[in-house]
Amino acid sequence: MANIILVGAQWGDEGKGKIIDVLTEQTDIVVRTQGGNNAGHTVFVGKRKFVLHLVPSGILRPGKTCVIGNGVVVDPLGLVEELRALRRLKVKVDGNLFISETAHVVLPYHRELDEQREILKGKHRLGTTKRGIGPAYGDKAARTGLRMLDLVRPDAFARKLRIRLKENNGVLKAFGARPLSFAAVHDAYRKAGDALRPHVTNTVVLLHQAMMRGASLLFEGAQGTFLDIDHGTYPYVTSSNTTAGGACTGSGVPPHRIDRVVGVVKAYTTRVGEGPLPTENAEIADLLHGMGREFGATTGRPRRCGWFDAVASRHAAMVNGIDDLAVTNVDGLDTLEMIRVCVAYRVANQQFDYVPGDVDLLSQCEPVYVDFPGWRRPLDKARRWRDLPGRARAYLNAIADLTGARLSMVSVGPARDQTIVR
Ligand code: GDP
Ligand code: IMO
Ligand code: MG
Repeated sequence: MANIILVGAQWGDEGKGKIIDVLTEQTDIVVRTQGGNNAGHTVFVGKRKFVLHLVPSGILRPGKTCVIGNGVVVDPLGLVEELRALRRLKVKVDGNLFISETAHVVLPYHRELDEQREILKGKHRLGTTKRGIGPAYGDKAARTGLRMLDLVRPDAFARKLRIRLKENNGVLKAFGARPLSFAAVHDAYRKAGDALRPHVTNTVVLLHQAMMRGASLLFEGAQGTFLDIDHGTYPYVTSSNTTAGGACTGSGVPPHRIDRVVGVVKAYTTRVGEGPLPTENAEIADLLHGMGREFGATTGRPRRCGWFDAVASRHAAMVNGIDDLAVTNVDGLDTLEMIRVCVAYRVANQQFDYVPGDVDLLSQCEPVYVDFPGWRRPLDKARRWRDLPGRARAYLNAIADLTGARLSMVSVGPARDQTIVR
């Protein structure tokens, strides 16, 4: 099997977890390379629902190896809890899950600062998940972060934590927030460090040795292209590179080892948190929320919804090099008489066929739509391409053509078998 990077090609929550779970069957190792427990990837195995935050979704397939790469920021308390929940559900996580020793650690002051900065921003807030992701990546770039190799070395951890708490407690005080106690943080994190120690290793070497033996890798993207720190709708983004390049820097696997990039999109658009969403539409939001769908897997917030944005998906194909497109949640559109697809943006008398980098300009963009007739039939039982009504096939072919990628997978429900592979 090939080495595949899977990315979200919209604003996150495209159904990456489900597609990863399907693709894992044909791979040996699943690797997370960026983000942290801001991610929430939902996978159904039979009737059982799993929501993965830091652990790669591949963990649900017996016999596969999972890696949390160097580019991830790890909240040790969150990870210990996630592992405990998985063990309780009889999912094997020992001996098959490895964590990079150079992955950065999310500490309580990161979470507290995330929250305080959002409060300070008021109506200009980003709508973060409050998991401390921005401040943790900030420390990494400022070269003041603690890494997993520090967490699992008691002396180093105590010494470095004391210094970092001194600075961060000063900042927290300036925000009017309560300073953190060294003893409380130290004890909780030492315990988590002890629990995680058996998993911590040099994952760069592990992955290279596995490739030498012929193993195939599947890179599980978190978030989505327009939440990328460089290519997204800055500042309304997350703090990592969510696009395909992030998979290489976040794992130490070089670009020439990558065979294919799979982009995942929903058949419509969603976004959780603040920032522009050109095709946002209240009617489609009401429809999906009314069906009990589109509530965040990490924070439970209702997701904002809109029509499929082919300007965005084409832009995503450009920055990620998307070869194959997986379209999920097609069944969400089953009842609609008419389905719109955005094919260009317009501002005054200017037209865009790419996503402008200036978020203020993007906020003024009016979508130009092309309308497609709805199929008005439930799709959830379709298992083959030819089971789909002609109108659904026409809609799917059109969004793949507009994106400029091969339509390879279509998902018509959350379950494993509700997947059409072309
Ligand atoms: P991720 O973050 O990209 O992994 O996506 P999430 O798990 O946050 O959100 C996607 C949601 O859509 C989850 O609740 C999935 O179970 C669900 N899902 C994925 N594919 C389909 C599909 O084709 N149809 C339906 N009805 N639900 C789907
Ligand atoms: P998955 O992997 C959707 C959004 C937040 C907020 C912005 C910044 O499940 O697709 P952060 O906490 O990262 O600093 O928040 O990014 N966000 C996501 N939106 N899916 C995600 O992950 C997200 N992770 C972060 O809502 O707008
Ligand atoms: Mg999600």
